[in-house]
Amino acid sequence: MNAESIKTHPRDWMVHSRINGLTALVVGAGSGMGEASAKAFAANGGAVVVADLRAGEAERVAAEIASQGGQAISVGLDVSKQADIDAAIDRTIRKFGKLDVVINTAALVRPAMLEDVSLDQWRAGFQVNVDGALMVARSALPWLKESPHAAIVNTASLAGVHGYSQGGAYGPSKAALITLSRQMAHEWAAYGVRVNVVLPGVIDTPMARGSVPQELLDQLATMLPMSRVGQPEEVADLIVYLASPAAGYITAQAIACDGGMSHMMFAKPMGK
Ligand SMILES: NC(=O)c1ccc[n+]([C@@H]2O[C@H](COP(=O)([O-])OP(=O)(O)OC[C@H]3O[C@@H](n4cnc5c(N)ncnc54)[C@H](OP(=O)(O)O)[C@@H]3O)[C@@H](O)[C@H]2O)c1
Repeated sequence: MNAESIKTHPRDWMVHSRINGLTALVVGAGSGMGEASAKAFAANGGAVVVADLRAGEAERVAAEIASQGGQAISVGLDVSKQADIDAAIDRTIRKFGKLDVVINTAALVRPAMLEDVSLDQWRAGFQVNVDGALMVARSALPWLKESPHAAIVNTASLAGVHGYSQGGAYGPSKAALITLSRQMAHEWAAYGVRVNVVLPGVIDTPMARGSVPQELLDQLATMLPMSRVGQPEEVADLIVYLASPAAGYITAQAIACDGGMSHMMFAKPMGK
């Protein structure tokens, strides 16, 4: 499949009948994988609260979902601010009366070498990528406890398991997010809340295009086992599957969606 056919492939697949009637809060849904997840969740019959730091982008995504016949509202929200989270959940309950699923894709990326990164930059990375994930999940928990199909899906990164240069707080904060997700899964299994975390590889989103020059992205694609970067819709398919009751016995998992890059010793077969 090429990028165009991935984007246009219908996203109302096998989880459809199971997602019907569920409500999701998708944080970071104004762009990239969050946007694709919100759209896929809605295409499968769910109601979506599109939340993003960029209120205008959240509004655009919600309008696009509505124009396709889906149910969505938008909220502007900084996931590192408790008051914003409280307001978003309040809005969700007032509009849809319940909350079954939290999908968190928001992240702060500030490239820096460890010897240069300021403590303020370091803490800002953890504040959004770790504190934000904890705050949104904890605030949603009372509602998730009421749902027979409660699920949280966080978004970490391969940078959370492999070291790489110039990542600043990004990789360490994603490592913390992986463990945080597993701790949530362990503590909240008793409430019937499943928690999983997705580890995208190199995915063609505004974040990737903003932090890696196009030339380098193209070069990187040729070095990957599948000879291409991933599309946000491909990660969204995994996220929505994990969020759905179709994944009812899957919890505490960190699952890569990376075209195989994390488990290949060499990018290409020998001699290619
Ligand atoms: N793209 C990749 O190759 C890649 C690889 C591995 C992991 N990931 C992870 O996958 C997730 C999604 O990434 P993406 O590439 O889809 O990124 P994206 O296109 O930049 O989308 C992320 C959205 O979250 C918003 N956001 C940032 N900080 C926020 C905050 N404090 N509160 C609420 N929203 C906030 C962003 O707004 P701004 O644009 O204003 O920041 C943006 O609209 C992230 O967790 C990222 O770390 C991405």
